[in-house]
Amino acid sequence: MTAPQSPADKQPAGEPWEIVQADFTASAGPGSSLPDHGLEVAFAGRSNVGKSSLINGLTGRRSLARTGATPGVTRALIQFSARTRAGATFALVDLPGYGFAQRSKAERRVWAELIEAYLRRREQLAALVLLVDARRGLEDDDRALIDFMTAARGKDAAATAPEVLLVATKIDKVNRSTQQKALSQIEPSPSGGRPRVIAWSSVTGQGKSELGRRIALALERERARR
Ligand code: GTP
Ligand code: MG
Repeated sequence: MTAPQSPADKQPAGEPWEIVQADFTASAGPGSSLPDHGLEVAFAGRSNVGKSSLINGLTGRRSLARTGATPGVTRALIQFSARTRAGATFALVDLPGYGFAQRSKAERRVWAELIEAYLRRREQLAALVLLVDARRGLEDDDRALIDFMTAARGKDAAATAPEVLLVATKIDKVNRSTQQKALSQIEPSPSGGRPRVIAWSSVTGQGKSELGRRIALALERERARR
């Protein structure tokens, strides 16, 4: 017979920011809006950069958000509820990717408007996680999004605009010896100023604790401010 284990032996302590529960709640296309599940963290970036994969990695749910090898998988705003080990609840919002040239101009316009309307008006938005490919860095579309965020929230945007967390994804595809160089080349827009890039891989799990912590901090800050 084995001696009974203390609770501390049975369960690794775990981090307070860790997402221990996540569920799909709703999707919204043009003309519809998402329900209120408290503060939100949205994930934006070029098509195929790995937004949906990152949501799955962060929540530890392999197929919560739909992912795929062909760009343009996520076609609406997709909302998930989340609860951290510390008991905080919030929502994650997977945004359609931008910059996908093979779509018609009209379709791209509809998606851009969907994303812009969300970023401009969503009261619940506490932080925007902006993903860029570690191999490509910040591109014009990404800079435009950062500028849009700062500008969209009015004159006192600096005080009230949601925090932008910059993530360099697919870091597993960058040779270890050149990772630092790749990261240092990814600079925040001068007007935004705040993002400090987080290296991420949905394959190896690299970056999970740093991003998890930064999101938890952004949510705490936002709760205190409101
Ligand atoms: P859209 O919804 O089309 O905008 O794409 P997305 O940004 O949600 O990308 P998604 O998560 O669907 O991933 C696109 C492709 O990249 C898939 O084939 C993923 O398996 C792959 N991928 C995503 N993240 C990583 C990563 O960190 N490393 C590697 N090597 N592949 C990744
Ligand atoms: Mg997607």
